[in-house]
Amino acid sequence: MSQRERGIFVVVEGIDGTGKSTQVRMLAGALRAAGEDPLVSREPTDGRWGRKIRESATTGRMSAAEELRAFIEDRTEHVNTLIRPALDAGRIVILDRYYYSTIAYQGSRGANVEAVKAEMEARFPRPDVVFLLDLDPRLAVQRISEARGEDPNAFEGLEALAQVREVFNSLNQALIRVDAGRPPEVVHREIVSALASELRAAGRAETAERLGGL
Ligand code: TYD
Repeated sequence: MSQRERGIFVVVEGIDGTGKSTQVRMLAGALRAAGEDPLVSREPTDGRWGRKIRESATTGRMSAAEELRAFIEDRTEHVNTLIRPALDAGRIVILDRYYYSTIAYQGSRGANVEAVKAEMEARFPRPDVVFLLDLDPRLAVQRISEARGEDPNAFEGLEALAQVREVFNSLNQALIRVDAGRPPEVVHREIVSALASELRAAGRAETAERLGGL
């Protein structure tokens, strides 16, 4: 019996306004064109905890501690119901935000960065590849209000984003930093080429070749 491959876990992180969802969409499209069937998802999720978190972003009702717990509940459910089963089935998983967001956002809101990091690593599976989309927070805020036609919400003020970015940039882990100030197509090509290398290293040369050839 041939041994089934374990999936590849890819995460896209960065402050609000860096174009994560656009890149996730483009990457998913490229993987599908290369013959893969990726699981594409995001955090906060659309489940009950995720909805509660989104509501709190506009109403500001949760305390910092409650918010941290809500993100953990949301992620626990996400990992158990979608992420682990997909990885066990050998699929590529692409997430728009994961636990690095908890370290950076909740860390910048007063939680102890090292303690949150240790808790995340102990509780949740570690991704194979993490892309950190990096952008000047002033440009990020500008993009948010222009492109979405809305004012930054409670999570997205300039000062707050600058602090979150600092924590992201201080994570001395193997995050692949990507300059998100360039056109989406250029950012996409860089992500695809980095992922192709990871896939080759993980023994998925065929998908890597197809991706590279697109
Ligand atoms: P976001 O990806 O902006 O969702 P959407 O655009 O669909 O509303 O996420 C909402 C906010 O949640 C965002 O400002 C970052 C924040 N967040 C945390 O503070 N901690 C976390 O662990 C996660 C996943 C997100």
